[in-house]
Parts: sequence; structure tokens; C-alpha cells
Amino acid sequence: MSSFKDLRIVDNFYQTSAFFPMPTILVGTLTENGQTNLGSYSLCFPYYIAGKEYYAMILECRNSSNTAQNILRGSRVSLNFVTDERKYFREAVRLGFPGDTTAEKMKNCLFDLERGQADGERPSVVKQAYQVFECTWDSSLENAYLDKAGSLDGYEPPYRDFNGITSKFGAHFILKIDKILMKDKYYDAIINGVSAKNFPPVPVDYGYRDSTNFWCSALRKPFPEKIQAKDGDLDSVKYAAKRIDPDVTFTDEACARLTKIPRIFLKAALSQMVSIAKEENISVIDEAALEIINDKRRKEKK
Ligand SMILES: Cc1cc2nc3c(=O)[nH]c(=O)nc-3n(C[C@H](O)[C@H](O)[C@H](O)COP(=O)(O)O)c2cc1C
Repeated sequence: MSSFKDLRIVDNFYQTSAFFPMPTILVGTLTENGQTNLGSYSLCFPYYIAGKEYYAMILECRNSSNTAQNILRGSRVSLNFVTDERKYFREAVRLGFPGDTTAEKMKNCLFDLERGQADGERPSVVKQAYQVFECTWDSSLENAYLDKAGSLDGYEPPYRDFNGITSKFGAHFILKIDKILMKDKYYDAIINGVSAKNFPPVPVDYGYRDSTNFWCSALRKPFPEKIQAKDGDLDSVKYAAKRIDPDVTFTDEACARLTKIPRIFLKAALSQMVSIAKEENISVIDEAALEIINDKRRKEKK
């Protein structure tokens, strides 16, 4: 017998029928007269994370919102991540009230704005944010540039599958990440090593809401959980290393340093090492060569 009850799936299931952990993001866009509008959004997640020509987020929003209309018109977006202060969440809920104009919303806005760092005319970024993604909507996907601003009472079909106007009242935007801006303290943490003490206090929007309240929680102390490294055995690394390329060999010592690579990534990692070795005119990968190669792999990742 199941230990769960079967809950009906209805519109906005993530709010009505679930507890779904989400970020709280103030989305900055430019109005027609160049003012920055801030709207509150939680349905915003990484979309292209590797293996494409660029990195991207996806934003899901009501297509009549200031945000959607501004993106359809101007493409540029700032995604501002704020910390867990109660006054910030209160302000996010105010900025999330549907139907307010930009002038009304921004008149006494608690958040200060400053210029970001990406090129071109762009929405400002929130000074109090701990990190900001400056983005550009990729309207070439699914020919979404054909979708135009202006229909505030709903869009007629046909609809796109994943980019642009996707339903009568809905829109999805694939946002190419142009810059990730990070406050000093957290920049240092990422570069020099994160500990439980130097995480930004990130709020979690619980998803679930009713007609009265949104629910959000503050940061408690984050705890680390060790990644269970399953040491592959040396023989299987040596076996795989021998089969990548006849012109480049790995010494046993070098193979011994590669046993922590998860087996499913091993072939891809070894192939990448071999192609770097070839660029560097290295035919035997020993421990010293591995340093050079790994250095280059890290740089390429950056
Ligand atoms: C915490 C929070 C999260 C929200 N997340 C979303 C969301 O992901 N998508 C959406 O369409 N509306 C969301 N809303 C509602 C929008 O904020 C609301 O439609 C608002 O009018 C948008 O502002 P804008 O018209 O200036 O874009 C959220 C509201 C709050 C308070």
C-alpha cells in the first residue's frame, strides 16, 4: 500500500498542490521610456547549462505582466537575487501585485538601483542583491521575435512550445546569460573556498500559496554533505586510457590520479585530456603533463 495520498493536479499545481522550493528573483526590465521595472518571479531556473554556445535561464511569466511586455519589446533583463530579510520579501510581494504600473511600483521602491556591467542600454540592477545575472532574451529560438508586445487581454493561438508566447496568458523566455555579477564577499567565497559561514542568506519560496499569503523561509546554517567518491579501480582507468588514442599514452602514475573520475565521465575526460595533450605536443601523459593538461581544462571551463 502506498504511503502517499493522490492529490488532484490543477492549474498552478506548484502553488496549489505542492510544496516546491524556488528562488525569489526581482526581474528588471526596461519600459518604453527607459525606466527600470522590477517584478517578482520564482519560476526562473537554469536552462542551458553546458554543451551549447551560451548559457541560459528560463523565465515563466504571465504574458500581460510589465516584465513580459518589456521583454517582448526590448529583450534585456536583469535577474536580481535578494537575501532573506523579511522586509525584502515584503517588498517582493508588493512588487508582485498584478496590474500595478511601473510608475506606481517603482515610486517608493525599497530597493536602490545601479548600473550593471553588461554592454548596451539595459535595465539597472538592484544594489542590495547578492548576485545578478544580466541577460538577453534569445528571440531567435522558435522564431519568437514574431511575438509582439501589446495584447494585454490575452494572446490568440497558435502558441510556441517553449520560447515566446506559449498560451493565452503565458510566456516563456529563454534568457542568454551575459554577465554574472557577485558581491565581493561571495565572490571571494567561490574563488577561495566556501564554508558554512560564507553562504549568502538565500530565501526559499515554498511554492505553496493561498489567497492570503506567500510563504518564504530564511537561511538556517547550511550543512555540507560529502560527495561519496567511489574510487574506480586503477585497472579500469588504465584499460580505458589505452583505448583513447594510439599516439598518446598515460603512465600508471597518471592513471592512479584519475581513479576518482566517475566511470560514466571517464571516456569523455580522457578524450579531452588526449586532445589537449596533442595541442601541447605531449605524447606521454605523466603526472607533470597531467598538471599542464588539467590547468588548461580549468581555463577552458572558465
Ligand atoms: C514571490 C513571488 C513570486 C512570483 N513568481 C512569479 C512567477 O514565477 N511567474 C509569474 O508569472 N508571476 C509570478 N509572481 C507574480 C508576479 O510578480 C506578478 O504577476 C507581477 O505583477 C509581476 O510584475 P510586473 O507586472 O511588473 O512584471 C510572483 C509573485 C511573488 C510575490
